[in-house]
Amino acid sequence: MVFIPENFLSNAVKAFPSSGIGKFFDIKTIKPEAISFGLGEPDFVTPQVLREAAVRSLAEGKTSYTSSAGVPELRKAIAGYLEESFGVSYDHRDEIIVTVGGSEAIDIALRALINPQDEIIIPEPCFVSYKPCAALAGAKVVTVPTGMESGFKVTAEELEKYLTPRTKALFINSPSNPTGVAMTKEELLPIADFVKKHNLLVISDEIYAELTYDAKHCSIASFPGMKERTVIISGFSKAFAMTGWRIGYICAHPAIIKAILKIHQYVVMCAPMIGQYAALEGLKSGGVEVARMTEEYKRRRAFVVSRFRAMGLPICEPGGAFYAFPCIKETGLSSEEFCERLLDEQCVAVVPGNAFGASGEGFIRCSYATSMEMLKAGLERMEIFLRGLKRA
Ligand SMILES: Cc1ncc(COP(=O)(O)O)c(C=O)c1O
Repeated sequence: MVFIPENFLSNAVKAFPSSGIGKFFDIKTIKPEAISFGLGEPDFVTPQVLREAAVRSLAEGKTSYTSSAGVPELRKAIAGYLEESFGVSYDHRDEIIVTVGGSEAIDIALRALINPQDEIIIPEPCFVSYKPCAALAGAKVVTVPTGMESGFKVTAEELEKYLTPRTKALFINSPSNPTGVAMTKEELLPIADFVKKHNLLVISDEIYAELTYDAKHCSIASFPGMKERTVIISGFSKAFAMTGWRIGYICAHPAIIKAILKIHQYVVMCAPMIGQYAALEGLKSGGVEVARMTEEYKRRRAFVVSRFRAMGLPICEPGGAFYAFPCIKETGLSSEEFCERLLDEQCVAVVPGNAFGASGEGFIRCSYATSMEMLKAGLERMEIFLRGLKRA
């Protein structure tokens, strides 16, 4: 018999495309001379105090598995931090699991919650892993398109239209990847009411919670009656510049945490110990560094937004994260054509908006987690590219 490996793949995997970010993610390997705004990753190295804590933990021989839910001191520190920063209170003993990045958190939370054909509402454009992970968990994904008119925000009224008797959960990601949009307390409140009225759960990805520039982050879990209905996904990758350490966490009701923990134990056993000690130090003494990086992103946001507007590209001002999501519809190019040509002609990498769902078509995602010098040079090149398009 001829061996055809494709015949052995699961239909679920075959059904979804590879991440549209993939190509632009590795651009530096393929095109080292490119200026890349493609990566959703801080350009800062992990703050020194955190790295020192990791080295110390190694010197002390902390090289083993940890408790599956994570090092208790870290869980305690996460609980204290969430209470103090966002007014949400979790018991470190049975309401928090430390995960292998926010990525694992998304996957295992979905797998613990979804039955085949349960519907999950995901506002779009959205982070690339939500839909594939939901589909792998067996969910029917119901996407809600958003655009510039609504500031890329969903409302309870809009969500009502997508509700069916099978709706189980709603994804919220504020501040958002890819749009940078941060929902205010006033905007989240009616959504919380919608969730309670229809007896739903919220999976609230708050991984950019610290990186807000106009107003303090609001967690939907902080509203009355919402803590038990919310599964918070978060982590250290972004605000603490710890992408390579792979430390995230989930906070939820003990019954939900218990179910998620079962999967976590089977698939990864625990998050890496060294990373957990670095993260612990981050919560103890990394606040100054987080504030310094946040200030720098804020400075870059102002620069990037004003440059896009000066180039004639409409943009919703991002309230958080480190992404700008300008509209390129005026150019007449599709998102992919725009990105391909910008890369070929000016050696600048950005990500096509449709990588984040159909409603991202006509937009590009530009990460400003890169130096001011690179931003200046890359946006200069983009302006030359746009001028060239107008002349053609
Ligand atoms: C919205 C969002 N959630 C989760 C993640 C996963 O982060 P990590 O697995 O690095 O903690 C990312 C990474 O880009 C993200 O943008």
